[in-house]
Amino acid sequence: MHILNLRILKRLLKGTGIIALVLTLAIGVTGVWLYNQAQQSNVGNLKFDNPIAIPPLLEPRTDDEGRKVFDLTITAGKAELIPGKRTDTWGINGPYLSPTLRASQGDEVLINVTNDVNEPTSLHWHGMHLPAAMDGGPHQMIKPGATWSPTWTINQPAATLWFHPHLHGTTAQHVYRGVAGLFLLDDPESQVLELPHSYGVDDIPVIIQDKRFNSDRSLNTESPMFSDIGILGDEILVNGTHAPYFEATTTLVRLRVLNASNARIYNLGFNGNRVYSLIGTDSGLLEAPVAMTRLQLAPGERAELVVQVAPGEDVMLRSFPPDLGMDFWAEQVNGGNDTFDILNIRTAGPLVESPPLPSDLVTIDRPEEATATTTRSFRLSGHSRINGEKMDMNRIDEAVTVGTSEIWEIRHGSGPIHSFHVHDVHFIVLDVDGQEPPAHLQGWKDTILIPRGTSVRIIARFDDYTDPEAPFMFHCHMLMHEDRGMMGQFVVVEPGG
Ligand code: C2O
Ligand code: CU
Ligand code: CU
Repeated sequence: MHILNLRILKRLLKGTGIIALVLTLAIGVTGVWLYNQAQQSNVGNLKFDNPIAIPPLLEPRTDDEGRKVFDLTITAGKAELIPGKRTDTWGINGPYLSPTLRASQGDEVLINVTNDVNEPTSLHWHGMHLPAAMDGGPHQMIKPGATWSPTWTINQPAATLWFHPHLHGTTAQHVYRGVAGLFLLDDPESQVLELPHSYGVDDIPVIIQDKRFNSDRSLNTESPMFSDIGILGDEILVNGTHAPYFEATTTLVRLRVLNASNARIYNLGFNGNRVYSLIGTDSGLLEAPVAMTRLQLAPGERAELVVQVAPGEDVMLRSFPPDLGMDFWAEQVNGGNDTFDILNIRTAGPLVESPPLPSDLVTIDRPEEATATTTRSFRLSGHSRINGEKMDMNRIDEAVTVGTSEIWEIRHGSGPIHSFHVHDVHFIVLDVDGQEPPAHLQGWKDTILIPRGTSVRIIARFDDYTDPEAPFMFHCHMLMHEDRGMMGQFVVVEPGG
């Protein structure tokens, strides 16, 4: 708009005349109007009197082979996303979002995913370490009416993972309609920690999504005029609840936050700059809680926060304007100046005193930089390219040798902000622009924000699950970028493969 404006202004000034001046003024006014239109906030406008929906925990059955079996059906339905309005949505075993899955290290799981919508889709286990053929990426399409039944053994640290469709070209639409859920993993080390752990009581799922509605109450799926990251909504939902509140009954509340939005970046904090503890990131708990007042969360990322509350307090989880590292205009149209109240935490009566947060959490078995045998570079550019190429389902971009550690260097080449995600493995951030990563990037990650001008180096072990036929994906998790081709494929192979 800016640039357009200037160009038009120049041309008009050459011709001069009063008409030109009037036109210029009109364009200027429109520009200011558009600029202001782009800024979103709900602060002070909502009552937050809707009790937060807690996705039910899906109880598995056990089959004769001792596997935990979960049955999921992707369906179309109608959900009351805004109270009093019914919106056409998709969900799993219900009209919107999914029940939560939960399993422990060592469990063998079998998941029957039935496609009951009239389009092909897929279901990907984001953050899960598993064989590529079970991953649910673009190659594991589920046709309408079909059931796909991946099975694997849980073999990774306790974490808050999630799942969502991943068909190439339609991921953004399918996720936006409502297909997403949490997959919680436990392990023996985390189970003995005195952390809040009663699901729905003091251990709360917080799936944050932004939506935009048409006047007929349908979901508006269009990207705002100038956004180059995709759909940005002006209404915020948590677990599908608009303007939600949670009634705390304990002095510590653990929030398992998932940014399941298509494009919006949240900068999470509380009213009054309340200090909270970050205890976990995407793929595991941290070594020790980190005191924070703000945390930026990109699409696909998770964070486990513990907040302390006292009786009578009124606490608001809020997204403050994120720093997208863009220029003035781009920040504005991509959500960089937006503020949203997200979840109100209230108390009623006396609270049960929670045990204090442990000062040490888990040990992280970090891959050593010196052990890496290969370094690869990935340059993210525009809206659709990695290393200059768009995703091609028939091209394998990288072959990783099993049993090795690799360093991947991810560079912001051009375009707006990106969010880089790798399937199969979880990684450790070695450095951000050559500097030691901040405390909140010192744990296991599988998705990382890549602002303009930034370059990060990550390290991961590729220990098992070779398959020369079935690739894993790496991609930008801004879903519009992913669908447009900012994705590549790697296989894990035997030495020499
Ligand atoms: Cu959350 Cu490849 O996806
Ligand atoms: Cu993934
Ligand atoms: Cu991107």
